[in-house]
Amino acid sequence: MATLLEKIKRHDAKVAVIGIGYVGLPLCTEMAMAGFHTTGYDKHEAKVKSVLAQKSYIGDISDDVLAPLVQSGKLTASTDPKVLGEADVVIICVPTPLNKTKEPDNGFIMMAAEDLKAHLHKDMLIILESTTFPGFTREILLPKLSESGLKVGEDYFLCFSPERVDPGNEKWHTKNTPKVVGGTTPRCLEAIQTMYGEVLEHLVPVGSTDAAEMVKLLENTFRAVNIGLVNEVAIMCHKLGLNTWEIIDAAATKPFGFMRFYPGPGLGGHCIPVDPLYLSWKLKTLKYEARFIELADDINTHMPHLVVEKTQDALNDQRKAMNGAKVLILGIAYKKDIDDVRESPALDIIELLQGKGAEVSYHDPYAASVRIGEHTLKSVPLDGIDKYDCVVVVTDHSNIDYKVVAAKAKLVLDTRNALKHVRADARAKILSL
Ligand SMILES: NC(=O)c1ccc[n+]([C@@H]2O[C@H](COP(=O)([O-])OP(=O)(O)OC[C@H]3O[C@@H](n4cnc5c(N)ncnc54)[C@H](O)[C@@H]3O)[C@@H](O)[C@H]2O)c1
Repeated sequence: MATLLEKIKRHDAKVAVIGIGYVGLPLCTEMAMAGFHTTGYDKHEAKVKSVLAQKSYIGDISDDVLAPLVQSGKLTASTDPKVLGEADVVIICVPTPLNKTKEPDNGFIMMAAEDLKAHLHKDMLIILESTTFPGFTREILLPKLSESGLKVGEDYFLCFSPERVDPGNEKWHTKNTPKVVGGTTPRCLEAIQTMYGEVLEHLVPVGSTDAAEMVKLLENTFRAVNIGLVNEVAIMCHKLGLNTWEIIDAAATKPFGFMRFYPGPGLGGHCIPVDPLYLSWKLKTLKYEARFIELADDINTHMPHLVVEKTQDALNDQRKAMNGAKVLILGIAYKKDIDDVRESPALDIIELLQGKGAEVSYHDPYAASVRIGEHTLKSVPLDGIDKYDCVVVVTDHSNIDYKVVAAKAKLVLDTRNALKHVRADARAKILSL
C-alpha cells in the first residue's frame, strides 16, 4: 500500500475511468488537470474517438479544457480493457438504470467488474461512483473482485464514493463539490482519501461503503419526495383555485424551516426518478415498504398525465378537440439549459399527446432531434409559433424569449412558471400547472 500512496502523492499513479459519460468525462479531466495520467475506458467507440479528436460531447467540458489535456498526453481514451491492467487507480462511472419492472439493473457495473477482475493487480485502488443501493459494493462487487484471489484491504482497495455532479451548474462542479468517501476497510478509506485529497477540494469520509451508498440515496430521495410533495400542492392549489407559485414564493420568505421546491411536468434525468427506487427495492428485500418513496414516485410519474389533461381542457375551452390539434412542446431536455433528454417528462407528454391524436412538434435549442418510440422528431424553429393551437412549456431554458412566446402563441400551458414576467400582458391565454 505504501507504494500506491507514494505514487499518488507524487502524482505518478495512473488513473483509468470506466465509462466516460456525464460523470466519467468530467472526472477524467479533473484527474488529468491535477497531473495524473488518465485514461478513459469506454465500450462506446464514438466517445473514445471524440476524446482522442479533442472534441467534447459533454456540455460542462469545453473543447478548450479537453484539447490541451489530450495534446499533453495527460488524458487519453481507449476501448481496450487492457488499459485497466496498467492503472493504479480505477474509477467506475457506468450507468445504473432500472429494468422494465423498475428494479435495479446492475448489469453495467457487473460487466465492468468482469473486465476489472481480469486485470486486477496488487496495490490497485478501485472506486465505484455509479449510484447503487446500500450494500452493493460490499455484498456484490467485493465478492466478484475477490474471485481474482487478491485480498481486499491488503492486496487491493475497494471504495464507494457517490457522484454529485449537477450538469449545467456553473458554481458547483467536480472539484469544489464536497465528496463523500467510504472504504471497505480502514486502509481502503485511507487510499481513497489520499487519492481524492490530491484532486478535490473537500472530502467527507464516512464509516463504510454502505454508508456512502446511503448518503447518495438520501440526497436524491430528499429531492424526489419534496418534488412529489410540491407537485401534490400544485394539484391541491388548482382545486382550491390558488396560484401555486404565489403560495410557494410567499412561503419561501420564511427565513427558517422552509425550503423552496417547485412543481413541474414530472421528474427527469438519470438520477432523481431512478435512485430512490434503488433504495425502496433494497428495503423490500428486508421486508420493509419505503412508503414516502413509493408515494412520491406515484405522484411524480402521474404529472405528465396531468399536463396532458390540462392541455386537453385548455383546448376544449377554445372549442378545439385534442384529436388533430397542433401542439408545440417548448423544451424537451429534463431540466433547463442542458441537452440531456434521458427520462425527460417531455417524452412521456409527447407520446401521450400523440396517443390522443395531437400533431406534436417540439422546439429545444439544446436537443436537435429525439427518438420517440419508432420515430425521430426534429426541433422546429420558433418562428411559426402562432400556427400551433397550444404551446406547452415543459423545460424553461433561459435562452428562450418568453415575451415573444406570450405575444405570438394562441394558447400556452406553462408548467414551469417560465412566463411569470409576461403573465400580466397576456393572462387570458396563459395557463399554469
Ligand atoms: N448524470 C448525472 O448527472 C449523474 C449525477 C450523479 C450520479 N450519476 C450516476 O453516475 C453513473 C453514470 O452516469 P452517467 O450519467 O455518467 O452515465 P452515461 O450514460 O452518461 O455514461 C456512462 C458511460 O459508461 C459506458 N459504459 C457502460 N458500460 C460500460 C462498460 N462495461 N465498460 C466501459 N464503459 C461502459 C457507456 O458507454 C457510457 O459512455 C450512474 O450510476 C448515475 O446514476 C449521474
